[in-house]
Amino acid sequence: MRVNEVISIEREGPLALIVIDNPPVNAAGHAVREGLWKAIEAVEADAGVEAVALYGKGRAFIAGADIREFGKPRREPILTDVARRLEDCPKPVIAVLHGSCFGGGLEVAIACHARVAIPGVKVGFPEVTLGVIPGAGGTQRGPRLTGIGAALSLITTGERIGHEDALSCGLVDRIEEGAPREVALRMAEAARTGALPCRKTGALEVTPDPETIAEVTARLEATQGHLFAPHRAVEAVAACTGPLPPGLALEREKFAACIESPQRAGLIHAFFAERAVEKIPEAGASPREVAVVGVIGGGTMGSGIATACLNAGLTVRMNERDEAALERGRETVTGNLEGAVERGKMSAEKRDAALGRFKPSVALEDFADCDLVIEAVFEDMGVKREVFGRLDAICKPGAVLASNTSYLDVNEIAAATARPGDVIGLHFFSPAHIMRLLEVVVAEKTAPEVVATGFALAKRLRKVAVRAGVCDGFIGNRILSHYKKVADYLMLDGASPAEVDAAIEAFGFAMGPFAVSDLAGLDIGWANRKRLAPTRPAEERYVAVADRICEAGHYGRKTGRGFYIYEGRDRRPDPEVAAILAQERETAGVTPRSFSAEEIQARFVTAMIAEATRVLEDGIALRPIDIDAVFLFGYGFPRHRGGPMHTADVIGAAELVARIERYTEEDPYYWQVPDLLRKMAAEGKTFAEMN
Ligand code: NAI
Repeated sequence: MRVNEVISIEREGPLALIVIDNPPVNAAGHAVREGLWKAIEAVEADAGVEAVALYGKGRAFIAGADIREFGKPRREPILTDVARRLEDCPKPVIAVLHGSCFGGGLEVAIACHARVAIPGVKVGFPEVTLGVIPGAGGTQRGPRLTGIGAALSLITTGERIGHEDALSCGLVDRIEEGAPREVALRMAEAARTGALPCRKTGALEVTPDPETIAEVTARLEATQGHLFAPHRAVEAVAACTGPLPPGLALEREKFAACIESPQRAGLIHAFFAERAVEKIPEAGASPREVAVVGVIGGGTMGSGIATACLNAGLTVRMNERDEAALERGRETVTGNLEGAVERGKMSAEKRDAALGRFKPSVALEDFADCDLVIEAVFEDMGVKREVFGRLDAICKPGAVLASNTSYLDVNEIAAATARPGDVIGLHFFSPAHIMRLLEVVVAEKTAPEVVATGFALAKRLRKVAVRAGVCDGFIGNRILSHYKKVADYLMLDGASPAEVDAAIEAFGFAMGPFAVSDLAGLDIGWANRKRLAPTRPAEERYVAVADRICEAGHYGRKTGRGFYIYEGRDRRPDPEVAAILAQERETAGVTPRSFSAEEIQARFVTAMIAEATRVLEDGIALRPIDIDAVFLFGYGFPRHRGGPMHTADVIGAAELVARIERYTEEDPYYWQVPDLLRKMAAEGKTFAEMN
């Protein structure tokens, strides 16, 4: 019997199965909630039904709430009421969990009278990762099943666990093999005969545990003090020791506060950004088959890229200039795989299989069978053009020829071959086997199926691909080059590197700009500044502090000194840098002034947004949300702020224009209002409207 378009009831004698069929993942949107409510009413009213089981069709039980409904007017019945309705059913109702069962899905499950897991299921409360807390009884029924400690750990981290952990912590009662429908029938019968014990979760007692609550609160304060939702989750869980109804009411209150919080909007935007970037003009083109990848260069990037490809099951060839360099590349890749085994991320068998597919060689001729080649040699146009010329002569027709260049012109690289349609930029981020961003740089002549191949490769490597056009630095590094200058100006004008970094870290970045430069290696920026020196406009303020540090032989972390002195994991300001800075200020005739953290953050973010707007104007990024994805997945932009363009909307175009106009008085060359921003301010428009 069909209840509505997504819920139906199947009868087998005294058993009723409630079937959820809302592809692709049975999200608990309005139709599911309403259907479940009506289904429970129906089975309750049917005197012939003695036991009920819920199961999902397709990939999941219920993967979670329908997050597209967040922030919109709520539609009855809400999930809290559906869960209560299920729990209050006088007949045993059991949930059969398979595939994924997260958030709202898990809340439906724990409101049932027993839970059976099919091996392979993943369960969890990922709400905090979206800026909310479980809002349909998760914080009240969860601890009644698992105890306060385990529930807090699941709810405050969003961790996903498998069937065995779910059984041992008490979230599920049994593990059963089989197809969902078959298990549902078997278990409904077991519930009917009493072989599967059933009880109302809400009626269970929970032991108070103030110590654990205090411990988790202190830990959150220390590590995620700036995040809103995890703290609200702890407050809600702390209320679970009393009767259920007031606990549910308090949870609802905290949930509503989370829904209203700007962090929720930022985190949901970040969630959608990951999916939005897949929409590209070339989406209809068929990607080329890729089984064998060639990597040229076994340095920092080449070995990381090779590791990422091996992890994804690809065969990887690696080329270097000589045997010694090749050996270093081989060692780094092997070390990366070993590290994964040591951290329990990879089995020894998988490592052996990966090493079996790894084929380093100094003979570039061995790349003749590669389906895709990624060049990661020195950042030098001459070297890159020579490599591409050779690849053109060696590689089979149809091979994709990619460059990992950070800044250089991919059109010029492509012109070194007779097949520019096959040439593309695949810009990985360091460490390439860990960072999720991949900029897919589309040159003038790049063929659509080559673009599609770049996106398919990213998917295979579990990376987030963002389409970028050709310019100096593409999306991310172009914007980075711009806002790094504002950090330099703040420093020259009076803030210390440590003050700038502290302000940016307080904004939510894991590391401030000077700490990042030290980590990446100051020599990289130095080389780039030398490359660009001949084209630097006379009006541009130039801050030579980093050059002076490099001249002293300090390249950052790798040499133990840069903007800071490094001892183990600690950093402390370098007095030599303070002396260089004092000298540079004197040379520039600057009287240092002080900047508050808010002022530093405002200038930094405004510079980032201004250049990002120009990147959009130039058509380098398809949409504002693509820029957000680049910064969220490649540059450590705080996820709860949703990315620079989302942040721009929070600040508002008019305020941004006003700020830039204020700064223009100090430096009319650097601070210019982008036309698009001015137009947006005049028309009251947002970047979100352009996505
Ligand atoms: P690296 O200096 O660590 O490695 C470059 C490697 O290329 C060296 O091992 C060198 O021996 C090898 N090599 C040079 N010429 C060669 C040739 N003709 N044939 C074969 N091998 C050759 O440099 P890194 O950092 O790995 O950078 C490589 C490329 O990746 C550059 O274009 C860089 O701009 C880009 N990139 C670097 C990032 C980083 O964070 N280091 C991030 C993203 C891109």
